[in-house]
Amino acid sequence: MTRATLAHINLAAMQHNLQIIKSIAPHTKVIAMIKADAYGHGLVRAASALTAADAFGVACLEEALVLRDQGISKPIVLMEGFYHSDEIPLIDQHRLDMVVHHQFQVDALAKAKIKKPLKVWLKIDTGMHRLGFLPEQIAKIYQQLKTCKAVADDIVLMTHFSDADHRDNPKTDRQLQSFQEITQGLPGERSLANSAAILAWPHTHGDWIRPGLTLYGVTPFTDKVGVDYNLKPVMTLSSQLIAILQLRRGDQIGYGSAWECPENMRVGVVAIGYGDGYPHHARNGTPVLLNQKVAPLVGHVSMDMISVDLRQHPNAKIGDPVTLWGEGLPVEHVAIAADTIAYELLCNVTGRVQRVVS
Ligand SMILES: Cc1ncc(COP(=O)(O)O)c(C=O)c1O
Repeated sequence: MTRATLAHINLAAMQHNLQIIKSIAPHTKVIAMIKADAYGHGLVRAASALTAADAFGVACLEEALVLRDQGISKPIVLMEGFYHSDEIPLIDQHRLDMVVHHQFQVDALAKAKIKKPLKVWLKIDTGMHRLGFLPEQIAKIYQQLKTCKAVADDIVLMTHFSDADHRDNPKTDRQLQSFQEITQGLPGERSLANSAAILAWPHTHGDWIRPGLTLYGVTPFTDKVGVDYNLKPVMTLSSQLIAILQLRRGDQIGYGSAWECPENMRVGVVAIGYGDGYPHHARNGTPVLLNQKVAPLVGHVSMDMISVDLRQHPNAKIGDPVTLWGEGLPVEHVAIAADTIAYELLCNVTGRVQRVVS
């Protein structure tokens, strides 16, 4: 027997989610965001499954080269563009699209000698204040790009929302309005919407949507979960019970003695910990599923193990299956209990956890 700590990756669910997203935004093209190892689901695996996407979004050249190396021929957009001009020859060789967000990139493209012009996604900072040109710079930058021989004619205009996951926050509409004002009269396709905007702000869909989290069956909201939108979880993180302890009232559990038994009771030990990517900050009471029923987390998360309260599980036995998130337990709920976001939980599953693909 080996350690039964697994991440099941359900590719049919990923394909289903893409179809749901397409039905929500039927008139747009889709950049499937598969950066960061497809949010922990496997970069090449996701790209191979998402044949219905129009393009893929990655953070950097290294991720794009892995895809090209594995024979992925669809358009790939480098969402941060290049960090140094010495990347341009490889971008050219592998025919990658790139976000241009800074003057140093425009200057480098102006000097670049390449085979065939490259497609550029011009990033406009409408209020996120992370990457992008400020509104007053756009007219000049757009003209500079137009005169670059290295830049193809079909420049896409894009922005990114900072607060689209807050459905009552007016900032998204302010960013949209600013984007419309800045880009008025400029030709080219438009791209604005991440998962939150796809679900909550349909008037922002534009020509290209950029779903990430929703592809994996998860929502960015704190009051909704994937199934509310007919999305299916793609990753199910699972393990099993490896020990059962009969403890007495007042016995304390694990490092820091952070939880005390309120009565004589059984406590179970599960083979998963922060060494697998289970969040150390998960609080007492974080839901864990044992035999499809909640067994709350008790005590601090260790590197390889967690403890769970077995008071509602009189028949639990060693070897019983445990789900940490995924099918039957939304990762959104675990994220709230661990004071983090579902994105981080998915991305953080470590290499020690075997991926089982179906
Ligand atoms: C520019 C850009 N677009 C789209 C996305 C996808 O966001 P989400 O996973 O919330 O759909 C990201 C992710 O961080 C991003 O950086």
